[in-house]
Amino acid sequence: MTVYVASTTAPVNIATLKYWGKRDANLNLPTNSSISVTLAQDDLRTLTSAATSERFEKDTLWLNGKEESLANKRTQDCLQDLRDLRHQLESQNPSLPKLSQWKLHIVSENNFPTAAGLASSAAGFAALVVAIAKLYKLPQDMSELSRIARKGSGSACRSLFGGFVAWEMGDAEDGLDSMAVEVLPLEAWPEMKAAILVVSDVKKDTSSTQGMQLTVATSDLFKERVTTVVPKRFVEMKEAIVNRDFTKFAEMTMKDSNSFHATCLDSYPPIFYINDTSKKVIRLVHSINAFFNETVVAYTFDAGPNAVLYYLEKNENKLFAFLYKLLHQVDGWEPKYNKDQLNGFINTFEN
Ligand code: ADP
Ligand code: DP6
Ligand code: CO
Repeated sequence: MTVYVASTTAPVNIATLKYWGKRDANLNLPTNSSISVTLAQDDLRTLTSAATSERFEKDTLWLNGKEESLANKRTQDCLQDLRDLRHQLESQNPSLPKLSQWKLHIVSENNFPTAAGLASSAAGFAALVVAIAKLYKLPQDMSELSRIARKGSGSACRSLFGGFVAWEMGDAEDGLDSMAVEVLPLEAWPEMKAAILVVSDVKKDTSSTQGMQLTVATSDLFKERVTTVVPKRFVEMKEAIVNRDFTKFAEMTMKDSNSFHATCLDSYPPIFYINDTSKKVIRLVHSINAFFNETVVAYTFDAGPNAVLYYLEKNENKLFAFLYKLLHQVDGWEPKYNKDQLNGFINTFEN
């Protein structure tokens, strides 16, 4: 029996201008454009292998060693789009094996906490789509594949590119113009670093999908955010990135994180993703910036309590000296492990 196999890794991306809200839940189209930074390949990443064979009896996904249901519509939509593209290839070249007709076995592993606000759905669906596209030898480029990954999880479309990435919301009803594009490759701004402070690795009680639906349905603040605040910020943040203006980039990143969490609090009933420890990190970052009289570090929080800090490499030592002193000596936190290589520096603090 012939088994065809392909594997890939996809890194997480952490939004600096947040996607929060769907205008079309069926096609997973957002209410606003967003921007993110994709972390380095080897840090927080998903490793996915996809296999197909005439003998496989059903599509199966093993996530972190456990069989996961493939019944959810969004995964099915991704598989269907990929099979349709493979089918087109097979129609053009009848000698190709009919992989589009066969079942898939997918094995995926995240090397970081799943569903804890560290963008597992982003790395997860990006890896799923790219692994199957490789298996099917599809000729589509990353932006085209990003439209498929978007249907699995919105944030996933941005993990198909490295560096600074924008997800253009588009306005077409069929979603053909809602996809990710590169703003700046990481090599063009290599001084930019990210550090992740894992505050909690437990699964969140409100998934991103549920949370944003509640916000869209109940928050008044949200309307202001998507009509006025984000469109302006989208243009300005892209400019700050292209000009490598850290101060502007950092300030907008922090404001946007706060604006997003404000709409969560303004949802009814309210959603709390950040906790007291997260708030401590926010205060600490503002104190550090005030102390240096310069914006040396920015925080952002996705739909969970874990902090992601962005800063320039030249400030790394002074920043971590402060963080360590204040978090460790004052609060008695212990870094569980850390890696020397930043951009995905993972420092797990436990209270
Ligand atoms: P997160 O903040 O981690 O992105 P979400 O609530 O957005 O949390 O999504 C978590 C869900 O994404 C998981 O419950 C799972 O269904 C899906 N997911 C996570 N990792 C993978 C993966 N490697 N492959 C496929 N699906 C995944
Ligand atoms: C706060 O992409 O996980 O991380 O499309 O429903 O799967 P679904 O949501 P998801 O939402 C991410 C929300 C966010 C902000 C962001 O990544 O832009
Ligand atoms: Co997610």
